[in-house]
Amino acid sequence: MVKHLYLWTVAVAAAAMLLICGCGREQSKKLIMATNAAFPPYEYVEGKEIDGIDPAIIRAIGGKLGYTVEIHDMSFESVIAAVQTGKADIAAAGITITPERKKQVAFTLPYMIAEQVIIVMGKSPIKRSQDLKGKRIGVQHGTTGDTFVTANIQEPERFTNAPLAVQALLAGKLDAVVIDSEPASVFIAQRHDLVRLKEALTYEEYAFAINRENSALLKDFNAELQKMIDSGELKRIIDHYKESHASEQSSGSVNQSFAGRLKESFYLNFVKEQRWMYLVRGFAVTLEITFFAVLLGIGIGFPVAVIRSAADQTGRFKLPDLCCRCYLTVIRGTPVVVQLLIIYFVIFGAVNIDKTLVAVIAFGINSGAYVAEIIRSGIMSIDRGQMEAGRSLGLSYTQTMSLVILPQALKNVLPALGNEFIVLLKETSVAGYIALQDLTKAGDIIRSQTYDAFMPLVAVALIYLTVVLILTGLLGRLEKRLKKNE
Ligand code: ARG
Repeated sequence: MVKHLYLWTVAVAAAAMLLICGCGREQSKKLIMATNAAFPPYEYVEGKEIDGIDPAIIRAIGGKLGYTVEIHDMSFESVIAAVQTGKADIAAAGITITPERKKQVAFTLPYMIAEQVIIVMGKSPIKRSQDLKGKRIGVQHGTTGDTFVTANIQEPERFTNAPLAVQALLAGKLDAVVIDSEPASVFIAQRHDLVRLKEALTYEEYAFAINRENSALLKDFNAELQKMIDSGELKRIIDHYKESHASEQSSGSVNQSFAGRLKESFYLNFVKEQRWMYLVRGFAVTLEITFFAVLLGIGIGFPVAVIRSAADQTGRFKLPDLCCRCYLTVIRGTPVVVQLLIIYFVIFGAVNIDKTLVAVIAFGINSGAYVAEIIRSGIMSIDRGQMEAGRSLGLSYTQTMSLVILPQALKNVLPALGNEFIVLLKETSVAGYIALQDLTKAGDIIRSQTYDAFMPLVAVALIYLTVVLILTGLLGRLEKRLKKNE
């Protein structure tokens, strides 16, 4: 049995490698664009697509250069790093040219001029930048707004994206938000209770970032960009997106009954623009990741448990046992988000691999450690006499293990195993860290479009709760069945 397990493990590893290499190889002149798609009108999620000024320009130029553009959504701090490490070919995220960034990447010609501005609630006493001292100021982490406030005013409150900061301002948790001028206009067009102060804090130029080694792409790209500037095409694209956002209608009405507000909020968060589809698609992603991670977890946990128990009982398999112990220690000793990020950015840093697969691998490897210990505790719970009885009946160690011990052990640990899978389902909610649109992230996307925290968060919580209740119910029934068979 143990010998088979080795073969089995090798087979799984080989299959995984094939899959990964396969994913990395299908490169038919693809241009990967890194962005942070919560920065309208430059980039934002709309339905399944990422749209906005930056995607439109990159698609136009990419098309002319014979590329198909693939957009990768990530946190703003990762955008430049993605280009630097070769994970993306170009970064387009309303990026301001700064001397520090110039050291890390090459910038194309500038395509926009912008400034950092202050937005506050209509009734705010803050009228100019001097009034900001000592107030609660929100910024997007890693942006020039963040740098400006930190250097010139005080430590700001840093949010992962701009709409979240605006949401906090609307909820009364901040006094002001410092942000780029164009997104500020979009937020104000959407919410008339916000105002922008006239004063500009900075003067900035936006450009796209390309790896410093890739001078060929930089040259071709700049040539096409220059043509677009000269022909007026660039201005047409920019005006188109600015206008489509300026006409957006305002939400957030006052003077309504509680029920009326609730109804409107429900409409805004789920019905309008078919926002419920984010939840449906996100839910599917969550289930997909969980399902395959459970399978991988069992695939890893089983052999590890058997090797560990066999080593304990027979004193053999010293080396495999050591490996298993290391695996258990590392995986159980570090947070799953950190493992996910390491697998995505470090281990698969340079390969272009499907993010769902990364999540399945990360959560599967993580779960495997817990599954292993659960199964091992099951094996340990079986009386030693059973092994001796099996052996004295002429069964080999492997036969006794697989025919006598494991079936009983499994039955004993079934509830604990079920529990582990329920925990796993909830743990996948950190998948958004690598920009997977799982259920939790779906709620975030809706929040960033409606600035409403209540409805999307409660809806997401209810969906998780429902699934957990169903799983718990099924588990209970299974346990009863097993008891009956005793
Ligand atoms: N222009 C600012 C900067 O370069 C903010 C850009 C934020 N972009 C985004 N897609 N969130 O730091």
